[in-house]
Amino acid sequence: MSDVPEPIRRPEWAALENHRTDALPQPDLRELFAADPSRAQRYVVHVGDLRIDYSKHLVTDDTLALLVELAEATDVPGLRDAMFRGERINTTEDRAVLHTALRAPRDAVVEVDGENVVPAVHAVLDRMADFAGRVRSGEWTGHTGRRIRNVVNIGIGGSDLGPAMAYEVLRPYTARDLTFRFVSNVDGADLHEAVRDLDPAETLFIVASKTFTTIETVTNATSARNWLLDALGDEKAVARHFVALSTNAEKVTDFGIDTANMFEFWDWVGGRYSFDSAIGLSLMIAIGPDRFREMLDGFRIVDEHFVNAPAEANAPMILGLLGVWYNNFLDAQSHAVLPYSHYLSKFTAYLQQLDMESNGKSVDRQGRPVTWQTGPVVWGTPGTNGQHAYYQLIHQGTKLIPADLIGFARPVAELSDDLTAQHDLLMANLFAQGQALAFGKTAEEVRAEGVPEEQVPHRTFRGNHPTTTILATELTPSVLGQLIALYEHKVFVQGAIWNIDSFDQWGVELGKVLAKRVEPALTEGADVPGLDPSTAALVAAYRERRK
Ligand code: F6P
Repeated sequence: MSDVPEPIRRPEWAALENHRTDALPQPDLRELFAADPSRAQRYVVHVGDLRIDYSKHLVTDDTLALLVELAEATDVPGLRDAMFRGERINTTEDRAVLHTALRAPRDAVVEVDGENVVPAVHAVLDRMADFAGRVRSGEWTGHTGRRIRNVVNIGIGGSDLGPAMAYEVLRPYTARDLTFRFVSNVDGADLHEAVRDLDPAETLFIVASKTFTTIETVTNATSARNWLLDALGDEKAVARHFVALSTNAEKVTDFGIDTANMFEFWDWVGGRYSFDSAIGLSLMIAIGPDRFREMLDGFRIVDEHFVNAPAEANAPMILGLLGVWYNNFLDAQSHAVLPYSHYLSKFTAYLQQLDMESNGKSVDRQGRPVTWQTGPVVWGTPGTNGQHAYYQLIHQGTKLIPADLIGFARPVAELSDDLTAQHDLLMANLFAQGQALAFGKTAEEVRAEGVPEEQVPHRTFRGNHPTTTILATELTPSVLGQLIALYEHKVFVQGAIWNIDSFDQWGVELGKVLAKRVEPALTEGADVPGLDPSTAALVAAYRERRK
């Protein structure tokens, strides 16, 4: 394995460097469109309901061809196929990476160590569907016989961000007579605010944790159980008010949840790739099993496209390669995801874990320090709000920030006529921003408006800021699945090119271990050996003020 060349040593990398140097200072979007207006049609890829326009990128046919050569040289297709085949491509944890099996059809065969995992996936989906149906219909009651009206998901990271994001995205499809809350932070305020107005007799807690050892989740779940038992006064109530989503039956039992109330998944599902597993139970209760399956179908559309489409017409491949171009050849540090949809308000936060926990790595798959840039900082909020906050920096600041603009042709069906009419204004903003970012406004154009000369530099927009525009007809469960799979595979492509393990997350371990060590110093005043002088002084100041 150690003879795998570093990506930067490959001739294909050097070819891109030379190409970049030839194109310096940078390809210019005005010139590129003037020379070839047909790029508006040619640089569009369709997958499922998604129309992905990458014409406003600082690339030419040559750039794209060279990027595809890099993907082939680094064997992205080979690693992709190994992932889909169930090989242990997460080498540092010695695990298969098979979130794609979570949306495989019932008759598919996906083997891990010679065993077809698809029947188990569908068995859990069926159990989830049965349970979700019983909660939604009122057949599953609480300990006192009252109907469940509130569902509280307790989890963190991948056991929170996915279901919390997807619940927001698909709100128009949710059972509006049920209340859903998502608790993640170990700050007691989170659980307090989530349950303060809920009736314990009508509340179901879903404890979501792959490992069932995560301190935030176990602590919050313990507090939630105390809250429930304080009100209902009977240990037996736990069985009607707590279910677990986990890979760890032993820890679930230790916590006091009967494994009959546990929905299982497997170590080949990474936390940040898990909301289409049992981790999606809260979402399934919210939208119903049929809609959940529609979402899985959406994932599958993009999975199949990723496997089958040639690199030049492969959406995750193209988006991944464009990111590599900016990150490694044009020195971009970050990537903005700017949805023009209120329902996608948590989408970028979800993508932050997906992308940054996957590709925030500084050693390669062989353990060698990387000397090339890996994952970008991913950030953003819904676009119109961002326009009145940080877009100024994107338009006129000094940084190159590639961005994704995501929008929908139709608003959700349940809006009133007035609110439906606002949709065109929302989308006008998306299209206007894409244009302004790409083409800016020249000094001549500013002068022609009669602007005084001293103000011309301030009102000139350089433009040339690259964007991808992702347009879908409507934000349906299937489209959500398509979007998530698109980004999952984009992240995969980049990790493969950078030769890093996108599926481990050792970097979050150190903080967890230290927090456990520091806690006794705060609660019991214990001496904690090994604290650095700065942290020791902070702990002392905290204790002093805590008195
Ligand atoms: O942040 C580290 C991490 O391990 C994530 O990868 C994971 O999604 C999260 O913690 C929660 O883990 P668990 O589901 O095991 O509680």
